[in-house]
Amino acid sequence: MNLSRQVACLWCLSIAAASAEPVHPVGNIFDPQATPAESVYHLSILVISVCAAIFFVVAGLLTFTIVRFRRKTDDHDEPAQVYGSSRIEIAWTVIPILIVLVLTMATARVVSAIQGRRAEANALQVTVIGHQWWWEIRYGDLGIITANELHVPVSSAAKPAPTFLRLESADVAHSFWVPQLSGKTDLIPNHPNNMWIDPRQEGTFLGNCAEYCGMQHANMLLRVIVQSPAEFGKWVAAQKLNAALDSRADEGRETFLALSCISCHTVSGTSAAGTFGPDLSHMMSRETLGSGAIPNTPANLRAWVRDPQAIKPGNLMPNMQLNALELDEVVAYLSSLK
Ligand code: CUA
Repeated sequence: MNLSRQVACLWCLSIAAASAEPVHPVGNIFDPQATPAESVYHLSILVISVCAAIFFVVAGLLTFTIVRFRRKTDDHDEPAQVYGSSRIEIAWTVIPILIVLVLTMATARVVSAIQGRRAEANALQVTVIGHQWWWEIRYGDLGIITANELHVPVSSAAKPAPTFLRLESADVAHSFWVPQLSGKTDLIPNHPNNMWIDPRQEGTFLGNCAEYCGMQHANMLLRVIVQSPAEFGKWVAAQKLNAALDSRADEGRETFLALSCISCHTVSGTSAAGTFGPDLSHMMSRETLGSGAIPNTPANLRAWVRDPQAIKPGNLMPNMQLNALELDEVVAYLSSLK
């Protein structure tokens, strides 16, 4: 390896290391882990196969023609000219129509199978509301409101536990996309859409907003956390607890509740009841801040509260211009919201 190559490699590595902080590798569409994603995967394999076959037939005939009919040294006359052939014209019209018809019907079948599924009476139903630039997640029946991290139970053939999603938007069009779990479904203002997922593997599945929705569209990241029924039950119980009773940071609470934070954020059991921003009742149970912008660590939480615009420029949380004491107290209080 020569020197310039080595320098280039080091440079690439340093770029990779520098950009390694907010890692959010969106799942692989070729490794589906739920029925809707799997149906889309099978359909895409069919479409790719048909297109590949067409490509090889066309490219093969073209290559054959170029080689077989190239001009030879003893060619002196023009070859026989063909002016129209009904048979060939019918063939190249009918064959593509049949191919398009097959692809249309296969697509329609997948779309209607996914869209047509109705929620069973006791199924888990969750409303996901897109905001610039975060996800509000409401478990109506359970009385839980959270953000950016959708917890669902694992599903299996023996014990199916699908989660039905009602997708809404509070402002502009967004799109719900967790590649390993479902196809993209738009969140349209004043027009609820539906999707469902039945993840068959526990773990965290990453997704993002898939419809350009403004400046921080790229930082509108989503996590689906698939848990065993027991773990999911524990999470539900913890989220239902009243945040005010659970918190131990009394001194910070006064400061927080006196600031205008409460006009946008809710902390259950307190006078903070704003709904413009994410519900903070159990914010420390979440893995990230700013909808996946940064990991939820004590240092990051402090940096975020001090100046959210420095981390996610254009986001709708203003710099509150807190002094050092207020910052300490607010961060201490938020850190107590487990
Ligand atoms: Cu929300 Cu893009």
